[in-house]
Amino acid sequence: MTDHIHSTQDGHMLQIVLARPDKKNALTSAMYEALIALLHRADADADIRVITIEGSGGSFCAGNDIGDFLLGARDIHNAPAFRFIKTIAACQTPIVAAVEGVAVGVGTTMLLHCDLAYAAPGAKFRMPFVDLGLVPEAASSLLVPRLAGQKKATEWLMLGDGFDAQDAERFGIINAIIDADMLRTHARAQARRLAAKPPAALAATRRLMRGDTAATLAHIATESAAFAQALASPEARAAFLTFMEKGKTKA
Ligand code: COA
Repeated sequence: MTDHIHSTQDGHMLQIVLARPDKKNALTSAMYEALIALLHRADADADIRVITIEGSGGSFCAGNDIGDFLLGARDIHNAPAFRFIKTIAACQTPIVAAVEGVAVGVGTTMLLHCDLAYAAPGAKFRMPFVDLGLVPEAASSLLVPRLAGQKKATEWLMLGDGFDAQDAERFGIINAIIDADMLRTHARAQARRLAAKPPAALAATRRLMRGDTAATLAHIATESAAFAQALASPEARAAFLTFMEKGKTKA
């Protein structure tokens, strides 16, 4: 159980809010478990036709909780973070994301599995896996080169360069940039439009557009194996400790 994920149903829309603003909505195991349960609930309930995901406190999501990374994972394929990634990749309910502020690590890569995504002009995206001694997840090593091209993907995934909302729009990570004060309203309005479509036709269209989900899930499994190895490496542990120490020296 966690207080850090809020959800409300509004008509056919399930609204999910990442609600850990003091930590920029970094995701803990408990938060992943709550998200998994909500995505499963949406898929199981015909009354829920669309999901929205947004952050709180001016951030979208600062990625996996780095303290949790330090705990490691004995069985990575069953770790909550990886079950979340598999669940969102296989989710059958359309998802609309609203991104304000930082979207780091899985905060960016989860957008690859959202159907629509909108960001405020000041949104900042980054996938710093290599800098943390890790490797990409959520099929980002497959989907980012596909969306942005190999060279841009090299900047983002190998150099760990951040990018802004304009580049996110240009390379298809988001649909559009929306003023911060209208962001949630717009994302929810688009979600309502999806929810109002004939459900069977919408679901069939989505399946046709997504193509082979099994191939994406197989890629996620390959990434997970490499991620598990990296997670236990001395270079990853050193990077996590540096981040945690920075917090302590700030205090
Ligand atoms: N895990 C754990 N705590 C995190 C976190 C994460 N991924 N991201 C942010 N936090 C915490 C910070 O430690 C800080 O906690 P404190 O107030 O107790 O010191 C708080 O959230 C606010 O973060 P801060 O770094 O002060 O904010 P900022 O605006 O200067 O920077 C980020 C925001 C997201 C750029 C920066 O926090 C960051 O780089 N976080 C790590 C992101 C990351 O690498 N995620 C994993 C990707 S695989």
